[in-house]
Amino acid sequence: MKQTTSYTCTVCGAAYRKWAGKCDACGGWNTIVEEAPLSTGPKSLGAKGRPIPLSDLATEEAPPPRASSGIAELDRVLGGGLVPASAILVGGDPGIGKSTLLLQAAASFARKGLKCLYISGEEASAQVRMRAQRLGLTDAPVGLGAETNLRDILTTLDAERPALAIIDSIQTMWLDSVEAAPGSVSQVRAAAHELVSFAKRRGVAVILVGHVTKEGQIAGPRVVEHMVDTVLYFEGERGHQFRILRAVKNRFGPADEIGVFEMTGGGLAEVPNPSALFLANRDQPAPGSAVFSGIEGTRPVLTEIQALVAPSTLASPRRTVVGLDSGRVSTILAVLEARCGIPFAGLDVFLNVAGGLRVNEPAADLAVAGALLSAREDVAMPPDMVLFGEISLSGALRPVGQTENRLKEASKLGFSQATVPSQSKIEGASGLTVRQMPDLTAFVGEMFGAG
Ligand code: TYD
Ligand code: MG
Repeated sequence: MKQTTSYTCTVCGAAYRKWAGKCDACGGWNTIVEEAPLSTGPKSLGAKGRPIPLSDLATEEAPPPRASSGIAELDRVLGGGLVPASAILVGGDPGIGKSTLLLQAAASFARKGLKCLYISGEEASAQVRMRAQRLGLTDAPVGLGAETNLRDILTTLDAERPALAIIDSIQTMWLDSVEAAPGSVSQVRAAAHELVSFAKRRGVAVILVGHVTKEGQIAGPRVVEHMVDTVLYFEGERGHQFRILRAVKNRFGPADEIGVFEMTGGGLAEVPNPSALFLANRDQPAPGSAVFSGIEGTRPVLTEIQALVAPSTLASPRRTVVGLDSGRVSTILAVLEARCGIPFAGLDVFLNVAGGLRVNEPAADLAVAGALLSAREDVAMPPDMVLFGEISLSGALRPVGQTENRLKEASKLGFSQATVPSQSKIEGASGLTVRQMPDLTAFVGEMFGAG
């Protein structure tokens, strides 16, 4: 039998016959590594399989009861609690706080009477116990194991039958039946597959922790994303205390839901009112700042967009964007230049979302434009104003969804005026003075003089 070596991208899992410097599937450089072939049985489909049982679509079964963790921010991101027998991936940069969050979650579930196992492949039991002590969780009846051999772990799970098993992390797990190093794509894929099918077969919910590394050295959890029901990403800046748990995929709830936490000396604390937190450190009205009333998942969240515009010494000026889509920012800069005659050539532009949140909504366009203009003109926006609206390539402002929720949240936080696109659906009083703008040129004229 001819053994062909195969090559796999460690980031996205794409398979290749030959090595290449660049992965065509995800665009990553130097991410393709050689993988030992998976040992497979006979390839022929001539042999007959078993017929699978079929049923119709009608069901009398009630939806499975969800288990609440008692951590409201976590429950929300899960879509209202943990679904039995579901598989969840929690991804994030190393050191961001995944182990901390999941140990707290395990303790919280266990205190509510759910049988929980926490299997660490990265830390010794003593280390995890020390962390538990620091977090004040030692009284919670969590079963703790330190192991990387998946065969032994599955045997243990089968015997213990917990309601929830946390595997920290999937990259450290290995199966002796797979001839590849732990952390390689083959191992991660095989280990995740075993755990997910075990979850479904035995009715055990599993949470897999996955590190994301920018270098793509360790197989990214991307290969696991397709196998699980729910994918959560734990984000934040290491130097910042805020952490955001974001659902990017959820078969049992809305995607794009976020939970906000604060990393403290005693572990992760919930932040029930993120808007207040993200706007907390706003001092005097300053040029370059605009407040965006956004929607994250099912709730409105106010954030401050900050811009700095300065003369550049570079031939191609800097465009440094943190927390926003840089392509969108380029588009807004181009529209300002082409439709409003406000050039940014020769100017360095820095944009940032305060507090470390990532804003993906096109509704943020108007606030981004406001922050950019305010920075460029060195004129502060009214500090009690929120902005939202999508900017089209023609320079027109397009109304966005959930106008009322956005206005209500702003009013609740003490804002008194809003600038929004014309034709925004405004029913009922929000308590705000709402200014409606047809296009960007009108906005520039109103806010910053004739432009
Ligand atoms: P950890 O949960 O180990 O991260 P991950 O599992 O994602 O790699 O978190 C590590 C960081 O969190 C570490 O730098 C210390 C910090 N930390 C606190 O600030 N407070 C705490 O109570 C704990 C347990 C950790
Ligand atoms: Mg960890």
